[in-house]
Amino acid sequence: MNSPQENHTSYQSLEGLVNALSNEEKSKYTDIIRSINLPLSAFENCCSWSDKGYTRNCIRDTDKFELILLCWEKGQVTPIHDHGGEECWVHIIQGKFRETVYNVDDLGELNVVKTNISNTGDVTYMSDFMGCHSLENLSDARSLSLHLYAKPIRNCNAFDDDLGEFVHKDLTYNTVFEFEDELT
Ligand code: SIN
Repeated sequence: MNSPQENHTSYQSLEGLVNALSNEEKSKYTDIIRSINLPLSAFENCCSWSDKGYTRNCIRDTDKFELILLCWEKGQVTPIHDHGGEECWVHIIQGKFRETVYNVDDLGELNVVKTNISNTGDVTYMSDFMGCHSLENLSDARSLSLHLYAKPIRNCNAFDDDLGEFVHKDLTYNTVFEFEDELT
């Protein structure tokens, strides 16, 4: 099988991307997520929007990986959360985001470790050994980010501002995208 670098055209459609993630080892996921070169129109049918918060739109959910599109209104933000022990890659499809990374010290206090600004086309990586994080849409407009989790994240710990502590959170989808043709 060709490596992602030898086979860039595979990632110029959502179907090609999903097939590549299905067929390749997890060790190739960084290359694959960096190779994505999809027009905005590729995501048109995966989007949903809410004034209540960013939406989680499933593109593909398998035992091996989960690919979801997050749709953000201006100013929307995630709670501070971990990744349920799984790996997380984020490709910014459109917009500008601030990621704030935290650790929890021996006293249980949250401390900011760093902040990153990501723009359209940027790719970031996160895993629990690096701490927990929050993401915020800094753009003056709607934004889109593509998230790859391996394996899928069914639940995580999210910081509840009212309680002042992390709470267990089950993760759900706002929409589930269906491909027209069978992929495999
Ligand atoms: C989410 O999946 O809802 C949060 C975004 C992320 O940390 O990747």
